[in-house]
Formats: sequence, structure tokens, C-alpha cells
Amino acid sequence: MTSLEKCDPQVAAILASEVKRQSETLDLISSGNHCRGPVMEAMGSVLTDKYAEGYPHRRYYCGNENTDAVEQLCIDRAKALFGADHANVQPHSGTSANLAVYMACLKPGAKIMGMNLAHGGHLSHGMHLNISGMVYKTAHYGVDPKTERLDMDEIRRMALAERPARLIAGASAYPRTIDFGAFGEIAREAGCMLMCDIAHIAGLVAAGEHPDPVPHSDFVTTTNHKTLRGPRGGIILCRAKYAEAVDRAVFPGIQGGPLEHVIAAKAVSLAEAMHPAFKTYAKAIRSNATALAEAMLALGWRLVSGGTDNHLMLVDLHSRYPNLNGAEASTRLSKAALVVNSNPIPFDPTSISKWSGIRLGTPAVTTRGLGAGHMKQIAGWIDRVLAPNNTETTIAAVRAEVIDLCRLHPVPNSSY
Ligand SMILES: Cc1ncc(COP(=O)(O)O)c(C=O)c1O
Repeated sequence: MTSLEKCDPQVAAILASEVKRQSETLDLISSGNHCRGPVMEAMGSVLTDKYAEGYPHRRYYCGNENTDAVEQLCIDRAKALFGADHANVQPHSGTSANLAVYMACLKPGAKIMGMNLAHGGHLSHGMHLNISGMVYKTAHYGVDPKTERLDMDEIRRMALAERPARLIAGASAYPRTIDFGAFGEIAREAGCMLMCDIAHIAGLVAAGEHPDPVPHSDFVTTTNHKTLRGPRGGIILCRAKYAEAVDRAVFPGIQGGPLEHVIAAKAVSLAEAMHPAFKTYAKAIRSNATALAEAMLALGWRLVSGGTDNHLMLVDLHSRYPNLNGAEASTRLSKAALVVNSNPIPFDPTSISKWSGIRLGTPAVTTRGLGAGHMKQIAGWIDRVLAPNNTETTIAAVRAEVIDLCRLHPVPNSSY
């Protein structure tokens, strides 16, 4: 019996149930992943006990020799992995990283210009209900209605007309390569700073599977927990001249004491991302996404922009079944042990509860060791479950097949 089971059986039972849920479902959420045992171990460590307000060797409390060491190691690894001048590893999340970067050099009321949420952007890029959309003026670019891809000429035209103080590149639901070089040129021409949010694609960038934003950007933000396969949290990278402003914006600007146990886990996952095996993993995320997209297309589904270059794709449900919406599709799929999320597609004609898309991603299933053949199998399951004439028996049959595959490919928790 573990000490948790002895001391708090209710929480222990919930955790055991989550372990079972994860082991018996396939996570196809593009922002999801399974971090490895050493990352979990560092996260569940003694460092959670230590208050460490400030930065390495500049703390407000004594007794920080070990937190200093671990945070400095994490900073050094982040800088080395991404080739950045400066790294701040304290943000509690991707959203916190973005807020700190706005706060670092923008006054309230300044204008930020990012991707439209309904076309694949993120809440923290100026959505009206998010603090980024309340404190700053906003402008949003979208994708081209025909190609469903970013149109760099149109973004340039908008940036020159809107004159934002900060241009934001990066997305939560965009299946194509982002041309960070072109964003950099636009920012220079429009006289604004460029922030690239690589929350989704950080693991691909780290492994050379997506073009690198760092040389073109004033700031780069990321989460640790998506393709990068670390603990839940965020990181900011920036040019040396913004280092002080960024550090001040994180603490004392928007946060108090850092989560040093999470920073230790970030350090572990950054070292994993430097390992040659991570390159193989990131390549497999993309080849699996390509295989899944090809299989969905072959079954007659339309994908936004016609496919994917990265780890995710958006399925237009109306292309097969005009009455099917994302909420119903994701509910049905989760009954079959396939976990996906409902998502708007660009120019979605429907409302929030009835979005006409689902988003599929391959980081987590690739971590479980699935390959291209399995992607074909997954596409076939999705197709069977979403057919309008299917029955509870069909869903139960698919669920049994998915669980069989899950048993063959357990969630790994060992190190390389
Ligand atoms: C592009 C992008 N930025 C930021 C975030 C925010 O990350 P967090 O949920 O850690 O705040 C996300 C999360 O999905 C994202 O997709």
C-alpha cells in the first residue's frame, strides 16, 4: 500500500482511476501527451516544499542552493535546446508566459495582433474574454477562405494598416507550417516586435521538424507539456535586450514563488528533448499525422487545408455528415475509447456548442509507440464510430479493439 493510499484513499482512488483511463484510451488530443517517469519523479519531489521567490542567486529567502542549481540547469538547457539568448523557466503555464511577455514591453492599451481564435489562434492572443483582450487593443488575422492557410501578403497588409505594437505568430489549431521568417520580415516592416508562441510545436521545433522561430523573434513562448512532452508549464525565450524586462514581468509582475519541482521536471524533459531518440520521436509524430490524415482523406473526410504538415489536423465533419457536430462526434468517440476534442473549423457556420469539426493529433499515441499502420486502424475506427447508422454495439466493438491495442502499447513511464 502506498502512503497516499493509506493516508487519503479517496484521492488515491481517483488517481488510480485516471491511470486506468489513460491506459485504456487513446489520446488523440493534439495538445496532449504522456510525459515519462523521470519527469513525473522530479515533479513529485521535495522541491515542492521550497519557497524561492526571485531568481537563481537573487532570492528573497535563504536555503535556495538546490533550487538555484536546478533552475539554472533548466535555464541553461532551454537556452541550449532552442539557441536563445535568455530563458525564463518560471511561467506556470503557456498563458502565463504570454501574459508576461505582453507585460514585459507593452503598456495597457497598446495593440497586439494575433491569429483569430476561430481560425486556430489561442485565447491568450487577444480573445475578448481573456485578460490579453481586456488590457490590450487587438486586431486579428485569419486564414485564406480558399486555401485555409495563412496568407502572408494579407497579414503584411493588415500589419501595415493596423500598426500593432506586437505581432503574434503561433496557433492552437493550425495544421500547416508557420513561416516565422515571413512574420519576422513583416514585424520589421511594420516597426513592431514579434512574439512567436510555439506551445503546440515546440517539440517539433526542438527536433528540427518545424522551422525555427528563434532567429526571427523578439520573444518565443511555449508550453512544456504538448509535443515537448514535459510537465505542465511554460517557458519564455527572448533576445538578451529583453531579459530583464521579461524576468521582471514574470516575477514580481504576474507570479509569486516559482514551482521549483515543476522547473526540475522541465529540466528533465529538456534533457530528453536533446537526446537523439527525441528526434526520432518528433519525426514519428509527423509521419503518424501524415498517415492519419491520408487515411481520413481516403475514407472521404475533408481536412481543413487538405491535410497536415505538423502533428495535428482538423476534420470537417460536415464533409461526410452535414448533421454531425463536434460535440456529438467527440462524445461518441470517447465512448469508443478514442479521446478527441470538438473544434471550430475556419469560417465555421455553426455555434460554439455545435462546431462542425474535431481536432486530431498524434503526440500522445506516438509516445505509446504507435506507427503508420495503427493510424490507418484509428482512421477506420473513427469512420465506423461516426457513421450515422452505427449502434451501441458498433461502438462497444470498436472500444474493445481500441483497448486491445492499448494493452499492446502501454503508456510508457520509463526513461530512455
Ligand atoms: C498556442 C497556445 N498558446 C498557449 C497555450 C496555453 O497554454 P496553457 O494551457 O498552459 O495556459 C496553448 C494551449 O493550448 C496554445 O495552444
